[in-house]
Amino acid sequence: MESPLDPRPGQAIYTKLTLSLYDPLVLGLSNRIAWRCPSHYIQHLYDQYVSPSHLEIGVGTGYFLEYCVPRQPVNDLVLFDLNRHCLQQTAERLQRFNPRIYRANVLEPFQGLDTSFESVGINYVLHCLPGTPRQKGIVFDHIKTHLKDDGVCFGATIVNQGADNLFSKTLKSLYNRRGIFCNRDDTAEAIESELRQRFVEVETRLIGTVFLFRARKAAAQENELPQKPKRSSRSQ
Ligand SMILES: C[S@@+](CC[C@H](N)C(=O)[O-])C[C@H]1O[C@@H](n2cnc3c(N)ncnc32)[C@H](O)[C@@H]1O
Repeated sequence: MESPLDPRPGQAIYTKLTLSLYDPLVLGLSNRIAWRCPSHYIQHLYDQYVSPSHLEIGVGTGYFLEYCVPRQPVNDLVLFDLNRHCLQQTAERLQRFNPRIYRANVLEPFQGLDTSFESVGINYVLHCLPGTPRQKGIVFDHIKTHLKDDGVCFGATIVNQGADNLFSKTLKSLYNRRGIFCNRDDTAEAIESELRQRFVEVETRLIGTVFLFRARKAAAQENELPQKPKRSSRSQ
């Protein structure tokens, strides 16, 4: 079914030029200073949950997959995005995984994607999507359809709560006015509620203004969200 929400503003900002600035400015500077969630917290999610068959939704520059240290080798990687620049650049960066590319709107069913995955990453995408948290929740329905019974969905999104400072308030307001973000109604509780309606096991954490989550269709014995990951070798 076609979504009534216009997905274009949330991905239009990503051009070759902006993507070349994304890692230092967004993952380096904004995550640390504006959103108060240094990127190593997110990197830790990738290290823990990326599996041999992984679907990455909203690939950006592919940074977290590039530096991921997965528990097992990745054999099947699908890169999913609406923006062709993001797909092109990330596919080149991650060519060692021989990724498949899927260009689509995450707000609509993933037609033609016939695989189920052991892990699905959706990082920093929900705050770019139009609509209320309830409308965004449909994304989890689509993911669930492509998640194996013992699979895990994980990611993070910037919500409109948490440790705000002048820098984060200014950025959030500017981005929302330009349609780059649409997260005025997004709260940790609202996103968590959407997850809990669809998944059996949900774990979440708010760090600064960033809501981190992982969700499973069935209960697993292990895997907690990172508390204090120690990554001394990376700069972001
Ligand atoms: C803020 S970037 C996040 C990039 C990366 N996941 C990260 O954490 O650094 C958002 C990504 O989501 C993609 N995106 C935005 N709206 C989308 C939509 N409706 N369907 C699919 N991809 C979308 C953008 O093109 C972009 O690659």
